[in-house]
Amino acid sequence: MAKYTININDENQEVEASEKTHLLWIVREQLGLMGTKYSCGIGACGACTVHIDGKSTRSCITPITAVIDGQKITTIEGLSSDSSHPVQKAWVEAQVPQCGYCQSGQIMHAAGLLNQNPSPSKEEIVKYMSANLCRCGTYMRIAKAVEMAAGTDS
Ligand code: FES
Ligand code: FES
Repeated sequence: MAKYTININDENQEVEASEKTHLLWIVREQLGLMGTKYSCGIGACGACTVHIDGKSTRSCITPITAVIDGQKITTIEGLSSDSSHPVQKAWVEAQVPQCGYCQSGQIMHAAGLLNQNPSPSKEEIVKYMSANLCRCGTYMRIAKAVEMAAGTDS
């Protein structure tokens, strides 16, 4: 075990972990940020998506040692202070969630897409978002909400 300082949601936090510990468990168990979900644990579903320096990243397969050099980690709790991020607002307006389990990962992945590409085409949205799985099948509403957040919906 070793102590690390990580920057998460714009605050430095001291955490203790073995070098093999994945970021997901630091976020959930040490920092109590339960919006980031555990599902497959092997990088296949996207439920655990956070941002590292604004880029969509699967925290269940990201070792703590990958984020100790000043990278900025953002979880769903830090995406905006009052749920006012354009993706969050579009998610509400398009009534995307069903059971909700995958949705924080979906929102983080969508926000990561818009960080990289503020005006994606419908095809780009569908392709990018297909990396995150939803057992409730909310894919059409996800695509619509991302278009709304990007301002490309008609
Ligand atoms: S829980 Fe991380 S990708 Fe599925
Ligand atoms: S809303 Fe239920 S798994 Fe996606």
